[in-house]
Amino acid sequence: MSNIFQPPPGTRDFYPEAMAIRRFIEDTWRRVSIRHGFVEVDGPTFEYLDLYKVKSGDEIVSQLFHFESRGEDKTQFALRPEFTPTLARMVAAKANALPRPIKWFSIPRCYRAERPQKGRLREFIQWNVDMLADPVTGLRSTRECMALCIDAIREFGFTPKEVRLAWNNRHLMTAALQDYGFAESQIPGIFVLIDKIEKIENQDRQRLYAEHGLNDSQAVVLNEIAAGRLPRAENATNPERISQLLQEFQREAEEVGIAEFCDFDPRIVRGLAYYTGFVFEVFDAQQRNRAVAGGGQYDKLIELFGGPSLHAVGFGMGDVVLEILLRNKNKLPANLLPRPDVFVVSALDDLFPAQTILAELRASQWNKDHTEIICPGLSAITSYKATKNIGKLVGEASSSGARFAIILAPDEWSRGVVKLRDLATREEREIPAADIVEQIHAALSK
Ligand code: HAM
Repeated sequence: MSNIFQPPPGTRDFYPEAMAIRRFIEDTWRRVSIRHGFVEVDGPTFEYLDLYKVKSGDEIVSQLFHFESRGEDKTQFALRPEFTPTLARMVAAKANALPRPIKWFSIPRCYRAERPQKGRLREFIQWNVDMLADPVTGLRSTRECMALCIDAIREFGFTPKEVRLAWNNRHLMTAALQDYGFAESQIPGIFVLIDKIEKIENQDRQRLYAEHGLNDSQAVVLNEIAAGRLPRAENATNPERISQLLQEFQREAEEVGIAEFCDFDPRIVRGLAYYTGFVFEVFDAQQRNRAVAGGGQYDKLIELFGGPSLHAVGFGMGDVVLEILLRNKNKLPANLLPRPDVFVVSALDDLFPAQTILAELRASQWNKDHTEIICPGLSAITSYKATKNIGKLVGEASSSGARFAIILAPDEWSRGVVKLRDLATREEREIPAADIVEQIHAALSK
């Protein structure tokens, strides 16, 4: 029987340290999105099950956590495995009222009934960035989304040696596969195969090729793609198109300053069925098999959800793989727990003075009437220990990470003064008790 006092496999408890890492990741995502002019949205945690059957593809449908409503109607719902169908539904419902281009980001929790393993959980957080526009503006959206993705990668501290963005284009792949005799109807299935091909052992590949009815030369092409090469068919309809597309992409990537991170890669076709043209994934440069982010163009989806025809492009970045990457590359800042500004140390018998000082420090961001915020808020804490030993209490103040300590000792307090101690430099000076708030603000602003 499962241990009900453990979190379910594939989920996480966020104790304070883990929560601080999550906030650091989410704050970075939010900051970068806003810098690029995207606004935040969210939707429900669950949707009608059928929403995910419209165009997401069989794989994601097989990973749904679903349930039935109580009562007679027995409606089928599913926890959201991704945000794109919710976004498409939201855009389609209000498309004419929304200012264009629509530039949205969201940070939803998502749920996939996967076998939990490193980098893959059943509950994870995914940053989504999507831009939907009329066809003319739309041409710029792809590079805007990629530039934003790479800006976040840079903000987390990664270099082009550590992280790569691999891109491809489904139109190009469709044309190239057709040159090798693949029928149009076969291509969605072949994309699903290519999406997994690197992870499939050789003998299993042969079996899958046979199941898909591939001839020998088609099998050779897929093996070439698995090795990261896109061979050109002798009778290719437009032999120049790969180099044209490469040049075009290179120019656009240079224009937005991200070319040093990018590689063309024919293995990137994406597992989700709604992608139409350009697609990309972002990886650890040393470990390609697990993407930290993935996305692309999905130009038909809004129409399919009953909205107008819009050029759509976006990506999702997961917190689980990102945290692994940050740890592997030593990019996670050491202590992310919030540090207090002030620690009040009191060796007085009376608890009242320390409590009053704490209240005044915490309220000091307000003007006298509490109607306006006039300066940054202060975070102030104190000890809950019974001891009056100032040495021990100052030790506790230092380990809390606070910048300053205010020390209330009986002798000084009777003279109307307290000590202000800089906990990093250990310098101490006496200040009038009446000036504590003012002095702390002055010391913090230096
Ligand atoms: P996706 O490739 O399925 O795309 O997911 C994007 C990222 O979410 C992955 O690269 C990975 O970091 C993370 N992720 C996915 N599944 C899991 C899991 N089970 N555990 C942990 N992390 C996971 C999409 O979801 C698209 N809807 C992205 C998109 C937005 N396309 C356009 N707009």
